[in-house]
Amino acid sequence: MRIDMTGTAVLVSGASRGIGAAIARAMANAGARVAVHYHRQRTAAEALVTEIGARAESFQADLSAPEACAQLWEAVIGRFGRVHTLVNNAGIAISSAPGSALGPWVGDWDATMATNLRAPGILCKLAVEHFATHGGGRIINISSRAAFRGDQPHYLAYAASKAGLVALTRSIARGYGKAGILAFNVAPGFTRTEMAEDFIRQYGEEYASSDIALARLTEPRDIAPMVVFLASGLADHATGCTIDVNAGSYVH
Ligand SMILES: NC(=O)c1ccc[n+]([C@@H]2O[C@H](COP(=O)([O-])OP(=O)(O)OC[C@H]3O[C@@H](n4cnc5c(N)ncnc54)[C@H](O)[C@@H]3O)[C@@H](O)[C@H]2O)c1
Repeated sequence: MRIDMTGTAVLVSGASRGIGAAIARAMANAGARVAVHYHRQRTAAEALVTEIGARAESFQADLSAPEACAQLWEAVIGRFGRVHTLVNNAGIAISSAPGSALGPWVGDWDATMATNLRAPGILCKLAVEHFATHGGGRIINISSRAAFRGDQPHYLAYAASKAGLVALTRSIARGYGKAGILAFNVAPGFTRTEMAEDFIRQYGEEYASSDIALARLTEPRDIAPMVVFLASGLADHATGCTIDVNAGSYVH
């Protein structure tokens, strides 16, 4: 079966690198028009757009600011007119020492929630409003296995933000399914990206490998095909679900 997304448009947040870049590539390979969102890495985003070709455009936004989320959505709609799929991929993982002073700890918590949960929440709200008047659409939120099995004490805010995404996704699935709006979570495990490098530095690669059932650590290209599948419409009756793409993290 070949998935053909020709004639559809997708916004992928945090698409300049890592999992987001792999998703943008895979969606484009399936024929979709892709809005490549980036924060600081303009050069990488523009290189990806050049690689993909005429079907891609780059859009800058710091998603930690609510108004920037709205401006991003408006900019994409302004260029594309219609968006069929929103992939909330952008995220941060701040290591916050358990014994640190309350002020910095709360700062890390708030920064994590702003980017990992509030920004996807705002983009979901705007997408739902757009989908409701344009014949439906699909949302794919990139959560984490941390939402279900928890994370290290240094990453409490990260795990909590990712668990929030699960409830956000399920609520959209419940509330808007009859309007043709579908919502899915993908829960990666440890995936070899720049985000993961911080963790490797802190805990070592051995730790990451010993935590999964497979021999090789997950890479962004292992996650992207599932996102394309969810976006394709072939999995609509799985709305509200979470798909674990985490190398057997729970069965290990
Ligand atoms: N790498 C892993 O092990 C892993 C595991 C589970 C879940 N995830 C999730 O997958 C997603 C992608 O992670 P990745 O590993 O590719 O990480 P990454 O750090 O390589 O990419 C994260 C992206 O988010 C963007 N971003 C961060 N802060 C932003 C902000 N304020 N405004 C706009 N964009 C911002 C970055 O620019 C970058 O493009 C994240 O949501 C992450 O939580 C990653």
